[in-house]
Formats: sequence, C-alpha cells, structure tokens
Amino acid sequence: MSVHPAESTPAAAQRPAMSLPRLRDMAARGEKIAMLTAYDATFARVLDDAGVDTLLVGDSLGNVIQGDTSTVPVALVDMVYHTRCAARGKRSAWLIADLPFGAYERSPEQAFNSAVELMRAGAQMVKLEGGGVLVDTVRFLTERGIPVCAHLGLTPQRVHALGGFRVQGRDDAGAAALRADAKAMAAAGAAMLVLELVPSALARQVTEENPGLLTIGIGAGAGTSGQVLVLHDLLGLTAGKRPRFVRDFTHVAGSDVGLGIREAVQTYVQDVKQGRFPDEAQHGF
Ligand code: KIV
Repeated sequence: MSVHPAESTPAAAQRPAMSLPRLRDMAARGEKIAMLTAYDATFARVLDDAGVDTLLVGDSLGNVIQGDTSTVPVALVDMVYHTRCAARGKRSAWLIADLPFGAYERSPEQAFNSAVELMRAGAQMVKLEGGGVLVDTVRFLTERGIPVCAHLGLTPQRVHALGGFRVQGRDDAGAAALRADAKAMAAAGAAMLVLELVPSALARQVTEENPGLLTIGIGAGAGTSGQVLVLHDLLGLTAGKRPRFVRDFTHVAGSDVGLGIREAVQTYVQDVKQGRFPDEAQHGF
C-alpha cells in the first residue's frame, strides 16, 4: 500500500497555482523559469513540491519510458495517458503536453482535435515542433483558447530529416531562419518557445527580440527565460551517452540516485532470499 500520489507537502499546497501571467511576471522580474519533464503522478507531485514552475509531459517519454530510440513512434493516446497521470499528481505547476509526431501537421483542425484531447486530460498548454509551416496552426489554436508552446532548433520529431541530433542555427542562414520562425510563432500567438540545441548567442538574441515570448532553453545557454531538462537525465538514470549540455544533478547534490535504486533493489532481493524480509515483528497482524 502507498499514499495517494497527489498528497502534497504543506509548502506546495500553499504555492499559488502557476499561470501564464505569473510566468510572465517572473520573466519580467528576471526570475528564471524552471521546467522539467514529468510523465506520471508521483514524479509530478515530487517535482511540484520541489518548486518546479512548469512540468512538461514530453514526448521524450518515447525514449525514457517506452525505450525507443526517438520520439517518432509516440502516439497521441500515449500522450493523453501520461498527461492524465501527471495532471493527477501536480498541484500548482503549469502543465504542458507535447503534441506527438503525426497528430498536428496535417491541418489546423487536426491539431485542434489532438490538442483538445490533451487539454481534457489536464494539459494547460500544448507544445508543437516546427516553424513557419505551422503558423496558421498556432493561430488557429490560440484563437480558440489553447495556449501554445512552440519548439525550434533541434526538433527531435524531425530527427530523420535533420540527419541526426545536431546543433541547429550555427550558420548565418540557419540562424536567420530560426529568428524569423520565432518571430512568426510569437505573432501567431505562441506564449512560450522551447529552444533546443542552438548556440547560446542565438538563443539570447531570440529572447531579446521577442519580449512577449517566454523562451525555455535546453542546450541553448543561459540567455533564455528558463531551462528545461528531461527528468531522467537530471537524475542520471538515462542509459547510454549523455548529451554534453545535460547535468546529472544527483552528483551535484552528492547522491547517486541510480546507484541508490540499484542498491535498494539488491538489498530487497537479498533480504527476501535470506528471510530477512518481511520481518514478523513489523508485520504486526
Ligand atoms: O519531449 C521533451 O521532453 C522535450 C524537451 C526535451 C524539451 O521536448
């Protein structure tokens, strides 16, 4: 038996619900926005209690939950399921959900129908990957009351077209295209923009050029309104080579979570096998 995942600490229960105006106030004051991915109720509660401002139900769940090598296979039904789970656990953080590959590119109407499913599951904003070609879609959604976060730079759903996970906007033409896309997204009504794997100077320039847009960087330097990381990267749990921009915060905090989990499980296995668990005295009935 375990406690309900949405049971929260008193401190978190007192935090006012995050909203777009609150996030804008933070950015105006120069307070950075902290975003992390969350895919389930327990972690949504833990991260919210720890003060994370916005939670992203990222389609990175294709990698870290489903074990795929890209986000391309993730389906809308997967995103709806995990959004509902995270929404049940979170208290005050702003909840964003990814529109997965294939669920929004065909037409604004298709994007609207998919976004409605995510909002019904508890999302407060939807995120989509891509630039100019999606301007009409972003306008269609925002005019109908669906807050939108755009995503430029490395857009993992297009990894096959991009030829791999590479830094974007390095040359003049790429940087100019990205700046134009950011402006177009802001003009179409996007309130937030994730910038992934772009040079730090470019991310800073995009942030300065679009004061109405909350920019969230991942591998984009320190000049954005906030930062996002994939939770499993931060916890040092991701298998394989870690991208250079990722920091394993468990080492910074002096506790190796991955090792701790492995040791706890090994101890459980040994205790079951040696008859040390369960303990009759603890059992109590
Ligand atoms: O899917 C995801 O987790 C993301 C972040 C890496 C920004 O899009």
